[in-house]
Amino acid sequence: MPEIIYQSNPKALQVELIDNIQSSAISDKIAKLAKFEAEYKQTFLDLANNKLYVGTKFQLNNKTNDPFATTLWFELGATIAKALAGTDVKLIQLDNKVAIDIENLSKLLLGLFQASWHYDSYLSNKARKSKSYKVYLANSIAKQYSTSSLKKMHDQIMALDSAMLLTRSIINEPPETLHPHTAAKLVQENFRKVKSTEVKIYDEKWLVANGMNGITFVGRGSRYQPRLVHVAIKPRNKSKLKVVLVGKGLTYDSGGLDVKISGGMKTMKMDMAGAATMFGVMKAISSLGLNNIELHWLSAFAENMIGPNSYKADDIIETYSGQTVEVHNTDAEGRLTLADVLSYATTFNPNYIVDAATLTGAAINAVSERFTALMGNDNKLIDSLLSQFENEGEYTVHTPMSESLREVVKGDISDLINTATIDRQAGHISAGLFLSHFVNQKNFRNPKLKIKKQTEPAWVHLDIAGSAYNSGKNGLEAKGATGQSVRSLVAWLQDLDK
Ligand code: BES
Ligand code: ZN
Ligand code: ZN
Repeated sequence: MPEIIYQSNPKALQVELIDNIQSSAISDKIAKLAKFEAEYKQTFLDLANNKLYVGTKFQLNNKTNDPFATTLWFELGATIAKALAGTDVKLIQLDNKVAIDIENLSKLLLGLFQASWHYDSYLSNKARKSKSYKVYLANSIAKQYSTSSLKKMHDQIMALDSAMLLTRSIINEPPETLHPHTAAKLVQENFRKVKSTEVKIYDEKWLVANGMNGITFVGRGSRYQPRLVHVAIKPRNKSKLKVVLVGKGLTYDSGGLDVKISGGMKTMKMDMAGAATMFGVMKAISSLGLNNIELHWLSAFAENMIGPNSYKADDIIETYSGQTVEVHNTDAEGRLTLADVLSYATTFNPNYIVDAATLTGAAINAVSERFTALMGNDNKLIDSLLSQFENEGEYTVHTPMSESLREVVKGDISDLINTATIDRQAGHISAGLFLSHFVNQKNFRNPKLKIKKQTEPAWVHLDIAGSAYNSGKNGLEAKGATGQSVRSLVAWLQDLDK
């Protein structure tokens, strides 16, 4: 566990953020030798003098058109981790000449901690790269902030750091160690001892009995049966708002009978990243607490595999909502499981539903592997989430769910189809439109649900196919799971709670 300590420690490696070498203790001679000009992310490690210089020039001072510019602070923290990787340094003291506001300082520290963690548990001890730093904040820094804001920052960073590491580590876990039932067990173990938290796990028998055929059809080809996980955190006083978080939880996506070809299958252990993201959010909130919100998390865990029981293209599935879906491609499985989970979520009559899913390759093509594609049915919710993502510096872009595209998910012999009648055009948007049918009870026609008042909660869908997992060209410069979206969603909930 990393630590933040509010006192000076002259023995710790002194990290100085500088945007101007003239104002710094660094000698011109040394700087010249190292060609150090204090450019943003440029570092100069002077171990003989127990110093690390970190440049901040330009990007942090200059105006930028990037609304997500606060991510530069997160990445600056990651730069420190990178500069110290391979050294024995574990104690560092921040002693900067640049004024930093506490929000940015928090981002820097979280970036440092996150970037010093690597998914290395399968490597031999010698090859492991993860490090836990003790960070001392020199008086010159600590005295800029009030004690209460330092305490708040401390709790927030620690909660987010461990939540994001949970998210990242289970996404990175190979498919043979994370199956639907092991994922469910992990959730149960995590919250067992946490006050005011309830966990319910539903097995395949329950899913069949309750008509959650979207989930059970997708899971049918696997030797491991699906599970539905429900975690609730209820505040002590009567809550004013109800929020349901939903995450796609495919522990593996082979594509099913429409098998993924030519390398498309590699990385599909990450197809439960939506569930892992919400798991992280719940973990952070269970330690930070909310006063006015009843918070739920629902995820179906399933494995999309090939076998004699696999579901097939041409199958028509009657979903939990009663709407029928013709399967056109067994690789568009996420939306089938989400259909049931989202409809179940709407039966809770919540104020808000937010889902996260590694839903489409189209989202990556459209917005790159650094961005999340955000869409929804409520402009106020869309705007408030977008501004949280901006504040946190997590790249997210709104892609409107154009009504003109809705007809492309309509079926001939079923209510809906699980792909789109147009090929290679904004597949992330047609996927979003498909999902929208399952958060609007006007479309529901399963009499067993006994719906009295047909509601449509405000809902946002995050397609995190790119942002949740990437090739290393991200702020952390770490390949694999990023933990992105966790901190923005936590910030959104905390803001909503005020
Ligand atoms: N899990 C994939 C989406 C995905 C692709 C996530 C690449 C991360 C990286 C999803 O289940 C899928 O296969 N979607 C198909 C949908 C298509 C068949 C309509 C896709 O995007 O190609
Ligand atoms: Zn798929
Ligand atoms: Zn998938």
